[in-house]
Amino acid sequence: METLAIERDSEFPGLVTVTLNRPDKLNAISFRMHQEMIDFCRQMETDSTARVIVFSGAGRAFSAGADLGARKDAASSPIVAPATPDALAERLHATIGNRSSAAIENLDQVTIGAVNGLAIGGAVAWLACMDIRIAAESAWFSIPEVDLDIPLTWNALPRLMRELGPSRTKELVMACDRFSSEDALRWGFVNHVTADAALIARARALAAKLLKKDPISLAQTKSTVNALANLMVPAEATHADRDYLVLARLLAAERSATPRDAAPEPIPEAASPSAEGPSGAPIF
Ligand code: COA
Repeated sequence: METLAIERDSEFPGLVTVTLNRPDKLNAISFRMHQEMIDFCRQMETDSTARVIVFSGAGRAFSAGADLGARKDAASSPIVAPATPDALAERLHATIGNRSSAAIENLDQVTIGAVNGLAIGGAVAWLACMDIRIAAESAWFSIPEVDLDIPLTWNALPRLMRELGPSRTKELVMACDRFSSEDALRWGFVNHVTADAALIARARALAAKLLKKDPISLAQTKSTVNALANLMVPAEATHADRDYLVLARLLAAERSATPRDAAPEPIPEAASPSAEGPSGAPIF
């Protein structure tokens, strides 16, 4: 695969490691990486020899989140009315993050996220889909979507709420502050913090321990906990995510034409009540 390095562990049969592998772009999650992640998860559906999967990032980051290069391309494409085929294609593409996230969460294998460097936005969303998370002590996290004028999508809000609780989720998503691996540990988002150099060894040691357990008992535990946890935060809560994403992009294009701090249009003194806006467009 071009964006993921997948290896079978030679010391611990049953352990598969998946390394996000675009280190020159801090492992930003491109459309191809989403697709390859979905393909990998599909392969795992029928692979009973793979029992534990460790996810990590190549180089100095776990991942810098959604590929902003791709977003820039999308934003610079001609903005069209939502009913045109281009906007519809964008709406279809907007579910790719939901699909890759669901694919990770629905893996039957036990999944461990090993967080080195940094995990931003979509990377935090992917991590929330994994069973157990371990962070290097220098790692940091952030969820900057609101600062980028886009809603947090990929079905991440219910998952973060499940992992962190409603109030913490609201603060992190709305204030967009960075948080450390120690913060993540205190809030229960990561299970362990470890010395940077020991991160992968720690994840492999946990995997080795799990590989000695009865696989059916592990699988039953995972599916029962997931079923119960997902009762509390049904995925349907985010059915409109992709529409918000398309809308946010349309609004961003409009805003770039009219800077936010531009002086508002003066209101004509003798304006008579009208069903139309200044341009003659209907007011909804
Ligand atoms: N999408 C695409 N490319 C990204 C990226 C992203 N989300 N994050 C980093 N990169 C690329 C940079 O463009 C740069 O590529 P280049 O060398 O070809 O110019 C490379 O990765 C290294 O990033 P750089 O910014 O030089 O590293 P840094 O250590 O100075 O800063 C960050 C690291 C993470 C603070 C900074 O890259 C950043 O803020 N990235 C955006 C994070 C983000 O907002 N993600 C979106 C979440 S929805």
